[in-house]
Amino acid sequence: MSSAEEIAARPLKPELLRLNGISRVSVEAHYRLYQGYVAKRNEILARLQHTDMGAANQVYSDLRALKVDLTFALGGIKNHEVYFEHLGGEGGEPSGAIGTLIAHDFGSADAWRADLKATAMAARGWAWTAYDWDERRLFNFLGDAQNTFPVWNATPLVALDVYEHAYFLDYQTDRASYVDAFFENLDWGVVNGWVAAYGIPG
Ligand SMILES: [Fe+2]
Repeated sequence: MSSAEEIAARPLKPELLRLNGISRVSVEAHYRLYQGYVAKRNEILARLQHTDMGAANQVYSDLRALKVDLTFALGGIKNHEVYFEHLGGEGGEPSGAIGTLIAHDFGSADAWRADLKATAMAARGWAWTAYDWDERRLFNFLGDAQNTFPVWNATPLVALDVYEHAYFLDYQTDRASYVDAFFENLDWGVVNGWVAAYGIPG
């Protein structure tokens, strides 16, 4: 496999265009950005393949820009793939294995929701619920961009996009109402599928 092998954007599930309180126009805005991150990722890897790493100092600033942009593009892909995949459900209380993990690590579903909502209000880009394999617990992490501030060896299970494009068309500056709508569209079956597929211990 070549290191510059291209990937393609995943298709958007039809149910994403019929969410409760998150409009089709907003979802399409996310999707266009996501397609852009995929194209950027392919372009950067192709350029890196043709960069002479043994060349003089002047390539380092170009290399730096490419490597930083690569993390932004990959983050934009991964974050949106979680976002698209786990929306389209009926919300409600976290059930099954994820319900047990949330109760154990946050005390209750209400406490988890309050913490994730506050994290989302404080963030500039994303709030995630992720399982940290070293700490062996869930955290609600804060992100200011596609590439800040995830930590190593943690797996995102909930990804809440709070970039302005996520809510401004539907709610203008009322981000809190968008966050409430996000919770109402979560598909816990999808999240539990990830918990099982990754082998996260209960
Ligand atoms: Fe987005």
